[in-house]
Amino acid sequence: MKIKVYPTSELQSKAAAQIIADQIRTKPDTAVCLATGDSPFGTYRELVRMVKDSHIDCSRLRVFGLDEWVGIPPDNTGSCHHYLHENFIGPLGIGHDQVHLFDGLSKDLSGECSRMTEAIRHAGGIDIMIVGIGMNGHIGFNEPGVDVNLWAHAIELDEITKTVGQKYFQSATPLSKGITQGFQQVFAARTLMLLAHGKKKASIIHQTAEAPIGIAIPSTLLRQHKNSLIMLDEEAAGELAPSLRN
Ligand code: PGA
Repeated sequence: MKIKVYPTSELQSKAAAQIIADQIRTKPDTAVCLATGDSPFGTYRELVRMVKDSHIDCSRLRVFGLDEWVGIPPDNTGSCHHYLHENFIGPLGIGHDQVHLFDGLSKDLSGECSRMTEAIRHAGGIDIMIVGIGMNGHIGFNEPGVDVNLWAHAIELDEITKTVGQKYFQSATPLSKGITQGFQQVFAARTLMLLAHGKKKASIIHQTAEAPIGIAIPSTLLRQHKNSLIMLDEEAAGELAPSLRN
């Protein structure tokens, strides 16, 4: 696991967007798996700008969602579906047939998970997975205690996730379950990029880098990934041992 620290979240976003843009330029049929939330917001904005300025061809890109809230309709502004359409799929003009997102309204969640896992297998695996990190160390909705042997799966949400998740919704929204790519998919991704910024992430980032590796803090498992890169701003890196920064 490599850790890179940038002076500001703007510079962190630009550097992350540059890596994704280079990946798409080098391999136009790249399979990306995308988180939503505050962490990747600036990166997607920069990436859209770079793609437009440099005329990068996204017509063969394959886009997979990282996770979704179960029971939340796609037109709800708090859904991962809505976020990715607003911030990535729409602005980049990605076609419907290039996109695979979880259907949080599916009556057959296990079928929905198999469909996603099969679509990724068919695409030849994920080239680059972009994730944020929860205050409890979750990755996607792989909550503390998760079974790391799972591919896509539905899961009961941790209390912290239900509480923190309210920030995405316009009014109080009952959240109970999520649907997510599993750790098998995380480990199989050729590149794993974790983005975090701001002081409130400093403690969980410190634990990710230094706590014992295990499912109590799922993000610690990224230390076992063959090609994981953590990109931080100074605030999120604030509690890291100096020897871990580069
Ligand atoms: P955030 O969420 O990017 O909105 O902080 C991260 C997460 O919960 O995975």
